[in-house]
Amino acid sequence: MQAPNSILITGASSGIGEALANCYAAPSVHLALTGRDKDRLEQVAADCRDQGAKVLTELIDVQECDRLSFWMKRIDETAPLDLVIANAGISAGTGSGGETAEQARRIMAVNVDGVFNTVLPAIELMKPRKTGQVAIMSSLAAFKGFPGAPAYCASKAAVRLWGESLRGELFAQGIGISVICPGFVRSRMTAVNNFPMPLLMDGDRAAQIIQRGLAKNRPRIVFPFRLYAVVWMLAVLPATLIDPVLRKLPQKT
Ligand SMILES: NC(=O)c1ccc[n+]([C@@H]2O[C@H](COP(=O)([O-])OP(=O)(O)OC[C@H]3O[C@@H](n4cnc5c(N)ncnc54)[C@H](OP(=O)(O)O)[C@@H]3O)[C@@H](O)[C@H]2O)c1
Repeated sequence: MQAPNSILITGASSGIGEALANCYAAPSVHLALTGRDKDRLEQVAADCRDQGAKVLTELIDVQECDRLSFWMKRIDETAPLDLVIANAGISAGTGSGGETAEQARRIMAVNVDGVFNTVLPAIELMKPRKTGQVAIMSSLAAFKGFPGAPAYCASKAAVRLWGESLRGELFAQGIGISVICPGFVRSRMTAVNNFPMPLLMDGDRAAQIIQRGLAKNRPRIVFPFRLYAVVWMLAVLPATLIDPVLRKLPQKT
C-alpha cells in the first residue's frame, strides 16, 4: 500500500497512540491527533512537529459521536484521510471485588461505541474516493474471556469481529480494514498492573509492528506471536480444563 499522507489517530495523547503518532510523523505528513488530556496531547503534537509533520489536535471524548464526526469531516476537507486508527480505549480493574456495572458500561461505551464513532464516519468519507484504510485497536484479550477483565475482553472481541467482517464488506469499495491485537505493551494502561506481564514490549516497538502490518494491509496484526499461540491454545482447550487455571490468574487493581 502507498504510505499514508493524512492520518487520524484517536487516543494519541499517550501509550500506543502516542508511539504511532511519532512513528508516522515525517515531513509533509498530515496528522490529526485526538485525546482528552490537553497537556499530553500537545506534547505529542510538538514531538511530531519536530519531525516535520503538520499536526492538528482536538480534545474529544470518543463517546461524543457528533463532535468526532464533525471534526473528521473538517480534517478530511483539507487533507483527505488515508488512514484512520481507532485506538482510544480503557480497561478497568476487577481486583477489588469484581467489575462494577458502571465499569462494564463505561468500557463498552469507550471501547465499542467509541470505535464505531470513529470508524463509521471514516468509512463514509472514504467511500466516494474508493480508497482508504481503517485500523481498529483490539487486543489479544479478544480471543479468550479472562476472569480478570470481562468487559474489556468482550469489548475487544466485539471490535475484532466487527472489523474482520467489515473488511470483507468494504473490499469491493477499495477500503482496507485491519484489526490490531497486541499483547502487553508498556503504557499508562499497563503501568498499574502489579503482576508479571509476559513478553511486555515498548510502545515504539509495538508501533513499528503495527505500521509494518498496515503498510501490507494485513487483516489481523497480532503480536507477539508466542503469546498469541498461548492465548489461542487457551481458547481452544475445553473450558472445564482451563477455567480453574484462569481463575487463579492475578487481577488488575
Ligand atoms: N497496553 C497494552 O498492553 C494494550 C494491549 C492491547 C490493546 N491495547 C489497546 O491499545 C489502546 C491504547 O491503549 P494504551 O495501552 O496506549 O493505553 P493508554 O496509555 O492509557 O492510552 C489510552 C489512550 O486512549 C485515550 N482515551 C481513553 N478514553 C478515551 C475517551 N473516552 N475518549 C477519547 N480518548 C480516550 C487516552 O486519552 P487521554 O489520556 O487523553 O484521556 C489515551 O490517549 C487501547 O484501546 C487499549 O485497549 C493496549
